Amino acid sequence: MLKFLHVVGARPNFMKIAPLMDALHQAAAQRKADLEQVLVHTGQHYSREMSSLLFEQLGLPEPNINLEVGSGGHGMQTGRIMEAFERVLLEQKPDLVIVVGDVNSTIACALDAKKHHIPVAHVEAGLRSFDREMPEELNRVLTDAISDYLFTTEPVAEENLAREGVAREKIHFVGNTMIDTLLHHRENALTRDVLDQLNLRDTPYAVVTLHRPSNVDNPQILEGILVALEQISRDLKIVFPVHPRTYNQIESNGFSALLEKGNFHLIDPQGYLDFLCLVANARLVLSDSGGIQEETTVLGVPCLTLRHNTERPITIENGTNRLVGNVGTDIMAGYHEVQSREWAGRRVPEKWDGKAAGRIAAILLDSFIN
Ligand code: UD1
Repeated sequence: MLKFLHVVGARPNFMKIAPLMDALHQAAAQRKADLEQVLVHTGQHYSREMSSLLFEQLGLPEPNINLEVGSGGHGMQTGRIMEAFERVLLEQKPDLVIVVGDVNSTIACALDAKKHHIPVAHVEAGLRSFDREMPEELNRVLTDAISDYLFTTEPVAEENLAREGVAREKIHFVGNTMIDTLLHHRENALTRDVLDQLNLRDTPYAVVTLHRPSNVDNPQILEGILVALEQISRDLKIVFPVHPRTYNQIESNGFSALLEKGNFHLIDPQGYLDFLCLVANARLVLSDSGGIQEETTVLGVPCLTLRHNTERPITIENGTNRLVGNVGTDIMAGYHEVQSREWAGRRVPEKWDGKAAGRIAAILLDSFIN
């Protein structure tokens, strides 16, 4: 009996793990291999909109174990996860721990596993923003340094890893499991009635998401972004699902009045399907998310990324993504440029074809079953 333990913690993890659990289940059945998959949720995200709603829509099984660590400072959150996950490892004794992405749960569980000599697979390895003030960049570098299987989504990731001394034989360019999820659910998502519910059927609109501490935790920067969005809202309605971190900052800094001035539609964080439907039908997306840069690239929707760097350069080279930073005038310049732009030569990145999870499953089972 082989036992793989999957770790999820925060919203962007769920869409990366869902296709992999399915693919491993299928691949093991085909090989008549006895594979047990255990799903551990650290509880880093816990609200219904940030967690259980996505589980339901993605068809993820209920977590076998929920560590319920909740929110907190980086040290506290990472430490709590490590303490609780160590107990799980000692009890479950998995053959492999699979972590995804770059959140605090990713490094916490990878480090625990390696300290107990359990191999680690990292899905979405090798992405680098080269900005070590980003908490996610530290999580990426550290997780990659100790992982045994590094599954990458774009070619530059292998170069980044090789430069850091990771042995080439550990690196596998497999594609993007988050895009597996997008392709799997796209048709169904487009039938959702969220456009009617929000009265957007005949209204040109932009979708905005913001949650990076570097954008929302500094009131001056956040205010500058909101002022730029208000200007854009004179042309396009702004549909803004507000992340809890951002909601707290808008409330505590009294920015609600600023938003009331513009043509904004503030909504709660959306489930996966409604959000996909909203993005697919948008004229434009403005966001500081990592994953949305990739999703808009596949959907062909222009994306202005409100950051100075990206760990996902292929979304600029091949896709519809532009970096505009977080200063109002730069956001506006990007907005005007994108309107007059043709996206000729745009193409979906290599191996973003809905089969990435299958590739990972084949590599892992080849490696564990002789
Ligand atoms: C985390 C990840 C980030 C990821 C993002 C996606 C790290 C370091 N950060 O950032 O990489 O892009 O998730 O959303 O791992 N809150 C709720 N309900 C929840 C979760 C959080 O209300 O279910 C509130 C809490 O007030 C919390 C705040 O949101 O303090 C921020 O949550 P936290 O998990 O600390 O960071 P994120 O900004 O979500």
